Amino acid sequence: MSKPAIVGSVVIAALVGGAIAAFAVAWRPAIGAIEPPASRSFDPALVKRGRDLAAIGNCNDCHTAPGGKAFAGGVPVPTPFGAVYSSNITPDPETGIGRWSEAAFRRAMRSGVDRAGHHLYPTFPYDHFTNVTDEDDQALYAFLMTRSPVRASDHPNDLSFPFNQRFLIAGWKLLFLKKGTYKADSSQSAEWNRGAYLVDGLAHCGACHTPRNGLGAEEASASFSGADVDNWHAYAINAQSRSPLPWTKDSLFHYLRYGWDADHGTARGPMAKVAANLSSVPESDVRAIAFYMTSVFGTPAPGRPGPANDKSAQAAAGDQAGASIYQAACASCHESDRPLPYSGIDLRLSTALSAPDPRNAANVILSGIRPVSGERSPIMPGFANNMTDDQLVALLKYLRSRFSTQPAWSGIEQTVRNARQTETVSLQTSPGTVSAPGSTQRDKP
Ligand code: HEC
Ligand code: HEC
Ligand code: HEC
Repeated sequence: MSKPAIVGSVVIAALVGGAIAAFAVAWRPAIGAIEPPASRSFDPALVKRGRDLAAIGNCNDCHTAPGGKAFAGGVPVPTPFGAVYSSNITPDPETGIGRWSEAAFRRAMRSGVDRAGHHLYPTFPYDHFTNVTDEDDQALYAFLMTRSPVRASDHPNDLSFPFNQRFLIAGWKLLFLKKGTYKADSSQSAEWNRGAYLVDGLAHCGACHTPRNGLGAEEASASFSGADVDNWHAYAINAQSRSPLPWTKDSLFHYLRYGWDADHGTARGPMAKVAANLSSVPESDVRAIAFYMTSVFGTPAPGRPGPANDKSAQAAAGDQAGASIYQAACASCHESDRPLPYSGIDLRLSTALSAPDPRNAANVILSGIRPVSGERSPIMPGFANNMTDDQLVALLKYLRSRFSTQPAWSGIEQTVRNARQTETVSLQTSPGTVSAPGSTQRDKP
C-alpha cells in the first residue's frame, strides 16, 4: 500500500470508529407503541393534579400556538441556532403521543428521548424536568392523555447544519444533562424543599433567568443572574437583582400569583405568561416558590441599585426633550395617587429603568400594557405610533438619569430599533381571573 492509501484508510477507520462510538452513545431503543388508553381509565384526582403541574411547567406556553388548539404544538421556540418547533403532545395516536406509554413519557421528561428513540432538543427544558418525581410524571401523563386529541403533524425545525443532526444532542447531554430526581436538603424546611424542587425542576425558572454558554447550556456558576429571552431581558433574580427595592417573600408571592406587585409593578412579556399560569395552581406551591426564591435572592449584593432621589429639579439641560415628553405623556399616570395596579408605579421603583439595558422599558413604552378582557386591570397606552425613535431615545435617557441610580445606558438607539422591529414582543398582563384583584392591598400570609 502506498503512503497516502495507508493514511486514507486510517482516516476512514477513525471516521467509522468515531461514527460507531457516536452511534453507541447516541442510540436509544424505541419503546413499544400501546393502544391509546381510554380517558376514563385515569383517576380524575390524578388528572387534576397533572393539570396544576402542567401549569407550573408552562407546557401550554410552548405547546399551544396563539389561537391554536391546546397542546397541538407547532410553536417555533427560538434558539441561537434557529427555531425548534414544539411537538403535538395531545393523545392523537398518529401525530401526537396517543401511543406513548407512561414509561415512554417519563423517559422524554427525564432524558429527552422520544418514544422512537430520537434525541430531543433541550429547547424542551428536560434539563430541568429531569428532576420531576415518578408521581408527578404520572399525573402529567394522566392530564395529557385525557386532553382532546388533535391531528397536527410536527413542523420541521429551522436549524442549520450541524445543529440539525439529532445524534449530536447525545454529546450535549453527556456534557450538560445532570440526571436525577430532586434530593431534599434535610437542613431546610419542607416549604423550602418544595420551592426548590419546583423552581429548579418543573417551573424551570433558570431556563429564562440563567445565562447560557456557547452550546446553549445554562451556566451553573451564574444561576439566576439574568439572561435574554425573546427580545426581553429576564432580570437577575439573585443577589445581583437590579430591583431598587429588595424582593421579599410577600412581594414575590404577589407578583408570581397576580402578575403584579405594588412595589414592583406588572409582569410583562414572557413573565406575564408564567404568572398567568401560577394564578391557577395551589396557592401553597406559589408560596413555596416565593419562599425558596428569597433564599436565592439572599443578601443584596453591595452596589445594587437603590431607589433614586427625586432629581427632577436638577434634570440636566441635555435631558430637556425627554423631560417634556415625560411631563406631557407619562407623569399624569405615574405620579397620580390612583391605586395600583391601575396607575403606573413610581418609576423610581422600576426594575426596567435600573436594568442593565433599556430593552424592557422600550418594549413597554412602545407597546403599552393592554387591558385584560373582562377584568379590571392595569392599562398603559402604547406609544409606538406617536413617538419617533429619536423621541423615545431622549425619553429613555431622561428616565434613566432621573429615576435610576445606575450609569447611563449605551446603545439605546440600537435597542429602540430592535424593539420596533421585533415581532415577538408580546405584551400582556396575566389573563388569569385573579390577575387584577379588586382589592389593591397585598394579602398577607
Ligand atoms: C420552552 C418551551 C417548552 C416548554 C416549556 C415545554 N416544552 Fe415540550 N417540547 C418543546 C419543544 C421545542 C419540543 C420538540 C423538541 C424536539 O423536536 O427535539 C418539545 C417536545 C416535547 C415532547 C416530545 C414529544 C414528541 O413527540 O417527541 C414531550 C412529551 C413534551 N415536550 C412534553 C412537555 C411537557 C409535559 C411540558 C410541561 C411540563 C413541556 N413539554 C414544556 C418545548 C417546550
Ligand atoms: C419564559 C421565560 C421566563 C420564565 C420561565 C420565568 N421568567 Fe421570570 N421573567 C422573565 C422576563 C422576560 C422578565 C421581565 C419581565 C418584565 O420586564 O416585566 C421576568 C421577571 C421576573 C421577576 C421580576 C424581577 C424584577 O426585579 O422586576 C421575577 C421576580 C421573576 N421573573 C421570577 C421568576 C420565577 C420565580 C420563575 C419560575 C417560577 C420565573 N421568573 C420564570 C422571563 C421568565
Ligand atoms: C394611562 C396611564 C399610563 C400612562 C399615560 C403611562 N403609563 Fe406607564 N404604566 C402604567 C401602568 C398601569 C403600568 C403597569 C404597572 C407598572 O408596572 O407600573 C405602567 C408601567 C410602566 C413601566 C414599567 C415599570 C416597571 O418596571 O414595572 C414603565 C417603564 C412605564 N410605564 C413608563 C411609562 C412612560 C415612559 C410613559 C410615557 C411615555 C408612560 N409609562 C405612560 C400606566 C401608564
